[in-house]
Amino acid sequence: MSLYRNSVWFLKGLNQYCRSGYESASKHFVPEDLEVNVTGRSFMVTGANSGIGKAAAKEIARRGGAVHLVCRNKDRAEEAKKEITTETGNQNIFVHILDMSNPKRIWEFAEQFKNEHRLNVLINNAGCMVNKRELTEDGLENNFATNTLGTYILTTLLLPLLGKEDDARVITVSSGGMLVQKLNVSDLQSEKTAFDGTMVYAQNKRQQVVLTEQWAKAHPNIHFSSMHPGWADTPAVRTSMPDFYEKMKDRLRTEAQGADTVVWLAVSPAARKQASGLFFQDRQPVPTHLPLAWTKSSPGDEEKLMQALEELSQKFKPR
Ligand SMILES: NC(=O)c1ccc[n+]([C@@H]2O[C@H](COP(=O)([O-])OP(=O)(O)OC[C@H]3O[C@@H](n4cnc5c(N)ncnc54)[C@H](OP(=O)(O)O)[C@@H]3O)[C@@H](O)[C@H]2O)c1
Repeated sequence: MSLYRNSVWFLKGLNQYCRSGYESASKHFVPEDLEVNVTGRSFMVTGANSGIGKAAAKEIARRGGAVHLVCRNKDRAEEAKKEITTETGNQNIFVHILDMSNPKRIWEFAEQFKNEHRLNVLINNAGCMVNKRELTEDGLENNFATNTLGTYILTTLLLPLLGKEDDARVITVSSGGMLVQKLNVSDLQSEKTAFDGTMVYAQNKRQQVVLTEQWAKAHPNIHFSSMHPGWADTPAVRTSMPDFYEKMKDRLRTEAQGADTVVWLAVSPAARKQASGLFFQDRQPVPTHLPLAWTKSSPGDEEKLMQALEELSQKFKPR
């Protein structure tokens, strides 16, 4: 990994991604942007039982939206549902159990969901940073299966459902960490070099940003965005990045601060006025590359990513 990219990124993070960065950015927020009632609209949030996903689901529920919580663990999901319902008074909160690293199950889930529900907004929030190279039961590298392939399959299968609705949106919770990575389509399963979970995660998050740009071009009727929540104190940060957490724990954002831009992208009329396909931080579109970092990918590589994901997706289609 480039020392230059890593150093520039970390300095940027200290300045912008911590709680102080949120506090400073939020001085320019327009409070009315979130004073909206989304009763009658339907939202899906993956990884909604914890952290940023749960905080976003709660704010959407507070504004009247029906929220589908897509989680892998039934107990944790039911607990989150209870908390959201109790705190917001919104009874339209629904639990769906799905492991986002299991492409066959995503296919089955999405096909069934399409037959039973409507959907205005999909929030791809579930994500992981697994620090050892682990394979899923399908032989897929776990981070790639969850962060990239799972996001790709769920989104592409739900696009026809979203396309039926007015003001449909897809928000993908990426990470500023993707700034240190250039898209690499030659080793999607991290087989070819020594495994570094942080870099594999950052590569997956870069892939999510490229996916968002590609979807925006291909589906002008739907509004796509990716975003960075900043550095927020969540279970994922505590468990997957214990050294980072120890050093930074007093400076991290709250989960609600991390979720703010997700909520803004999901519900505000202001977000809809932005072009589709952009990458956001603190309610503003921001560049997807650091200066002089040589991380821009070729259109050919971006096309290869889409083709590889589509081929993998079709492999897991139920027959
Ligand atoms: N916190 C930060 O500073 C930060 C910074 C940049 C980006 N992000 C991104 O923010 C998103 C939310 O993370 P978080 O920080 O809020 O951490 P979190 O509280 O641990 O939330 C992650 C969520 O994803 C779920 N998840 C993970 N693997 C899954 C799978 N295979 N199937 C279904 N659900 C799965 C987790 O479920 P379980 O509870 O069952 O594990 C949990 O609900 C992630 O995409 C992360 O990459 C976070």
